[in-house]
Formats: sequence, C-alpha cells, structure tokens
Amino acid sequence: MDLKQYVTIVDNWPKEGIKFKDITTLMDNGDAYRYATDQIVEYAKEKQIDLVVGPEARGFIIGCPVAYALGVGFAPVRKPGKLPRETIQQQYGLEYGKDALTIHKDAIKPGQRVLITDDLLATGGTIDATIKLVEELGGIVAGTAFLIELTYLDGRDKLEGYDIMTLMQY
Ligand code: PRP
Repeated sequence: MDLKQYVTIVDNWPKEGIKFKDITTLMDNGDAYRYATDQIVEYAKEKQIDLVVGPEARGFIIGCPVAYALGVGFAPVRKPGKLPRETIQQQYGLEYGKDALTIHKDAIKPGQRVLITDDLLATGGTIDATIKLVEELGGIVAGTAFLIELTYLDGRDKLEGYDIMTLMQY
C-alpha cells in the first residue's frame, strides 16, 4: 500500500515555511491505519518487546494499537504537569520550539525491552528525550518506529546506534 497518498501536506502550518504532514487523513482510513500499524507490529515482533512507549499526542495514536497487537503495555510520555504521580523529566528542542517531556518513575522496570513509537521523526529531539527517559529508568531501547521521516532534518544522526524504522520518507 502506498501510505503517502493518505498523508495531507498543509503549507505554512503551524508556522510560515513549515509543510505540515497531516496524518489524520491516514488515521481516519481504516485500511491505511491498520496497514501502517501492522507494518510496525511486524518490525516489533522480531525485537522481543516488553513495553511500548510513545510521546504525546501522536505517539499514542501509533503506539497504542501496536501495544494491543503485541499483547504488551503502553506507557505515555507527556508534557510537564500532565502525569499525576512521581515523574522524571527531560528537556528537548523541537523543529519549531522548545519543551520538556516526562514519564512516570515506575513506568518501566529495569531491563524491559522498549519499543518507542511516534508519528514523525523530524529533528529527532522528541525521540532523543524519550530515549533518555527510558534509559534513565533502566529500560533497553530495542527499537524505534515512525510513520514519517523528514530526512532533510537529519534526525537519524541524533539517534546513532539505535534501530530506526520509518514507513514514509520525505
Ligand atoms: C511532533 C511530532 C513528533 C515531533 C517530531 O509533536 O508528533 O512528536 O513533533 O519532531 P522532532 O523530531 O523535531 O522532535 P509535537 O511536539 O508537535 O506534539 P503533539 O504530537 O502533541 O502535537
């Protein structure tokens, strides 16, 4: 299946000069969403995953159906102030902005093999911060999976040494 036909390019959003990749037109198509999910599940099956971790908000949309299909749990990574119990925090830079991400301190057991999911690999800042959170809690990043990779932003360089799978490249 050519998944790119389901992604809508939105010019100048959320800022001038950004060509936003809108995946809502992929998610609301049952065949395309299932196909994309299945591709990531196949990738994950070879990695003996114990837990899926994804950053808000679109990392949830990708990661939760994958976790369900694998029969493992999902742990959310969220912006500060969103998780109710004790968290650890990591700063990061975005393609357009700066923020921090948090995870519950007890979300990962040391030695657990983690798959990290998100919709988009752009500069890699979000996933770099997510990897640091997982590793600080003793998790092993067994793989990372994305719908889209913006190759011109060189996010892969930031994630050297980690296994990366992306379904579409721009
Ligand atoms: C977007 C996207 C990725 C991240 C990729 O999320 O969903 O998580 O940016 O960019 P990077 O590789 O340069 O870090 P955003 O921060 O807009 O959050 P949202 O999903 O909650 O809208």
